[in-house]
Amino acid sequence: MVTLAEHYDAYPYPERDPSEERRRLITGSPSHPLEMDHALWGGARDWSRPLRALVAGGGTGDGLIQLAQVLKSAGAPAEITYLDLSASARRVAEERARVRGLDITFRTGSLLEAGEHGPFDYIDCCGVLHHLDDPEAGFRALRAALAPGGGMGMMVYAPYGRSGVYPLQEAFGAILGGLPPEERLNAAKGIMGGVPQGHPFRSNPNLVDHAASDAGFYDLLLHGQDRPYSVTELLETFDATGWQLARFAMPGLYDLGALTPHGADLPERARMAAAEKLRGTIKTHIAYAVPEGAEVPKASVRDTKLVPHLRGLKADAAARAVAAGKPLPLRLGSETRELSLPKGAAPLLGAIDGRRSVAEISATVRLDPIAAASHWGRIEAALAPWGLMLLSGLLRRR
Ligand SMILES: C[S@@+](CC[C@H](N)C(=O)[O-])C[C@H]1O[C@@H](n2cnc3c(N)ncnc32)[C@H](O)[C@@H]1O
Repeated sequence: MVTLAEHYDAYPYPERDPSEERRRLITGSPSHPLEMDHALWGGARDWSRPLRALVAGGGTGDGLIQLAQVLKSAGAPAEITYLDLSASARRVAEERARVRGLDITFRTGSLLEAGEHGPFDYIDCCGVLHHLDDPEAGFRALRAALAPGGGMGMMVYAPYGRSGVYPLQEAFGAILGGLPPEERLNAAKGIMGGVPQGHPFRSNPNLVDHAASDAGFYDLLLHGQDRPYSVTELLETFDATGWQLARFAMPGLYDLGALTPHGADLPERARMAAAEKLRGTIKTHIAYAVPEGAEVPKASVRDTKLVPHLRGLKADAAARAVAAGKPLPLRLGSETRELSLPKGAAPLLGAIDGRRSVAEISATVRLDPIAAASHWGRIEAALAPWGLMLLSGLLRRR
């Protein structure tokens, strides 16, 4: 059996070349500061206060570099700590930070000891907890490292969108378990050639990592310790370990009402569970969590002092499409949806620049307050469930 540390030392994940930091920044969820603010702090965090952040199981550094770079570019003070078991993953992350001139504290160790490095206002834990021997111990350890008012952005695997992965992991584990990582990889790649087209893995268009790199193949199909969480299991694990859900990065995915009017009278968790099963394509849950019992301020354009941002949409192009009566396309992995907005919302959409507040934008486009409130409501209802509109004062001048 290959241990977790042996696996990630042999194939640091994801595979990254530090020199590429000179040409591009990889962004995503969780742990983009705009998304963190929207999900955890009602879009109203005071970014002049230093953010103490832990990136737990930071790997080769995608979430770490995004967090540190976006804050640095915004001039927002932060003390960021990276923690990972794998020394080779750390070397890649450290080099990426050096190329960018980012100030980060690097530690090699287990997130089970996160409390020794804290407390933290924010914890990122992306793609790690489902690999622990005792995941609940990990959830608890991170909870214990959180400062009052803090929150966590996390990702764990989900079962249905990964259909076909687990039979292959089990088979490879049984027949190749005794081999060192590189031989395992070569043998598994050879065996894949004979896996028939009808295998659920082959007909699952949601899975791409194995084709992207050796580290991706190893992480997806040769992992020795990987358990997915249904949304019900994730929420129950939060309950058992002192956390509560603040918001999913894309709450729209879990909205049963977007799929069917049936089941409207079911409890919220049962509705989310049914939505996950009806979709069948969710491969990861990206969630923000706060301590059990904490109040979660809801970010909304009804608070007109807040600053809207578009993510994954360009304001001018989106405004042009809406003004022409065209829907905005939403791509969700293998699925495409259309989001419709009234033409009257176009000027507001086009004026979103991440710097002006809702009230300031409404004043600029000279809409009367009632029409503005109605259009903002439509924009929020269409975009926020998919993480396409976020509220945060990160880019306001301090
Ligand atoms: C799939 S990678 C994810 C890396 C990174 N968070 C990302 O999303 O790109 C999982 C990482 O978790 C680390 N890891 C696993 N168990 C850990 C533990 N108990 N404490 C700290 N790191 C751990 C592994 O070494 C590996 O680098």
